[in-house]
Amino acid sequence: MATFHYDVLIIGSGAAGLTVALRLPDDARVALLSKGELTHASTYYAQGGVAAVLDESDSMDSHVQDTHVAGAGLCHDDAVRFTVENGPEAIRWLIEQGVDFTRMPGGQDAPLPYHLTREGGHSHRRIIHAADATGVAISSTLIDRVKEKTNVERFEHRVAVDLITQVHNGERRCCGAYVHDIRSGATDVILARSVVLATGGASKVYLYTSNPDVATGDGIAMAWRAGCRVANMEFMQFHPTCLYHPKAKSFLITEAIRGEGGKLLLPNGERFMPRFHERAELAPRDVVARAIDHEMKRLGADCLYLDISHKPADFIIEHFPTVYAKCLQLGLDITRDPIPVVPAAHYTCGGVMINENGETDLPGLYALGETSFTGLHGANRMASNSLLECLVYGRSVARHISEHLAGLPLPRGAEEWDDSLVTDSDEDVVISHNWDELRRFMWDYVGIVRTVKRLERAQHRVDLLQKEISDYYSNYHISNDLLELRNLVVIADLIIRSALQRRESRGLHFMREFPGPQDPPRDSVLVPDNSPLHEGALSPVSAAD
Ligand code: FAD
Ligand code: SIN
Repeated sequence: MATFHYDVLIIGSGAAGLTVALRLPDDARVALLSKGELTHASTYYAQGGVAAVLDESDSMDSHVQDTHVAGAGLCHDDAVRFTVENGPEAIRWLIEQGVDFTRMPGGQDAPLPYHLTREGGHSHRRIIHAADATGVAISSTLIDRVKEKTNVERFEHRVAVDLITQVHNGERRCCGAYVHDIRSGATDVILARSVVLATGGASKVYLYTSNPDVATGDGIAMAWRAGCRVANMEFMQFHPTCLYHPKAKSFLITEAIRGEGGKLLLPNGERFMPRFHERAELAPRDVVARAIDHEMKRLGADCLYLDISHKPADFIIEHFPTVYAKCLQLGLDITRDPIPVVPAAHYTCGGVMINENGETDLPGLYALGETSFTGLHGANRMASNSLLECLVYGRSVARHISEHLAGLPLPRGAEEWDDSLVTDSDEDVVISHNWDELRRFMWDYVGIVRTVKRLERAQHRVDLLQKEISDYYSNYHISNDLLELRNLVVIADLIIRSALQRRESRGLHFMREFPGPQDPPRDSVLVPDNSPLHEGALSPVSAAD
């Protein structure tokens, strides 16, 4: 077991964490952690692109307005404007880093050299992309740049367990984290003057998800345990179109296919979205997912279909090479056949409350990206606003840390991880059973359509699981599976508690008993017992209030 000292500890190597690492000054000593390899993050799997106002016929007001409409009245205008207005700079920065976005035919001579696509909720073409593998382009480029930085030390296959806090000058601050080395089994201490949570979302809490395995809400759970408020956890976004195939584990069919004319069909070939919304297939995501869920249940169908085969084959292959290749590998030719699709958990709209600088309630602790709640997404995130949020807040967090780093206290030595009183488990199968149970009842009872009774049933099961998992955690050596399970049960609890509080239907939260929205719109804010707010300390969070 070792203790490491840095200026900044960044937990997470997706768009959020990488942006902070690259935007910090070269003289800051930085540790960058990821649970797997650096690419193993939702960012890498992003398909559609990044939303930003890049075309003269578009406007900031239009992007702001579309975000508000998709967010069903719950977006915070200051967060929306801040993100949208900083969008073009974020894209320019990505291009400077070397991200090779898809260009217009005619290349540099065209008025706008980049091709912009369209997705649900956007009234303009404003999604810049690298074919349908935007995440690969962003992630691999930013990782290449990070590898060139001698001040950034990378720790792969390390999972942060819990945050370390210390009192300095009468103030409780975050000063580091316990970090478990998944391969060696050791648990080290990493101390830093500032700690950044960029751990992504929590969609693995559901049985079916578009997300990679790392998306277990670790940052949200760690921040909650350390005393930070979280907000709007009931707004879990289900992406309408994930590939339905026994051999396709969590493969997304990008919304850009609908943006380029793809139609959603019933098993009999009938188009149905115009019955649900005037924007049909390009309605906001919550509307499309609910419509698919409704039609699947009405017809007892296992899946519905997305069809782009009316477009020329070379257009499809050029714009959607990843989806084309993946489907072909499974025996489906999307230039000829409709694609079987189902909704799956995709995005965590709620999270750790932060302000425009990314500061949480706990001094020294920042959060951003899918881990955070900025107020941007309201009750339903608009497509491609997520990567944008990671990039814009990544810059703010890096700037705020650089401005304050010199004056921050140096952490004192922390206690080593003590596992002298625990033993090896003789029944690891309990962990996998609990994983399955949790994810299944979240899918069954806390999914696209909710009722008070279903939520109460889920709450009862979460209470039992929390006790079992906590006993297990206290008595046995830790492993990545156990740590993730411990976090997922916290996430499930936060989602259900927020959902039970919201006696209305709004955006992604649909309750049978309360089919409409209630005025005035309000956030579901959960305050932990150890919140600094209870200690009478002033919270730095303002934008999210
Ligand atoms: P991530 O990219 O998920 O990175 C999280 C990082 O944290 C990982 O490195 C992980 O290893 C690390 N981590 C987690 N827990 C720990 C821990 N305890 N200790 C150490 N490290 C930890 N959004 C868009 O805007 N446009 C799109 O086109 C788009 N397409 C998408 C397609 C798919 C299939 C998916 C899943 C998402 C898509 N999204 C898209 C959403 C978007 O990709 C994510 O919201 C965004 O990438 C999140 O970035 P992040 O940096 O916050 O987290
Ligand atoms: C997609 O490509 O459909 C995903 C876009 C997003 O989640 O923003």
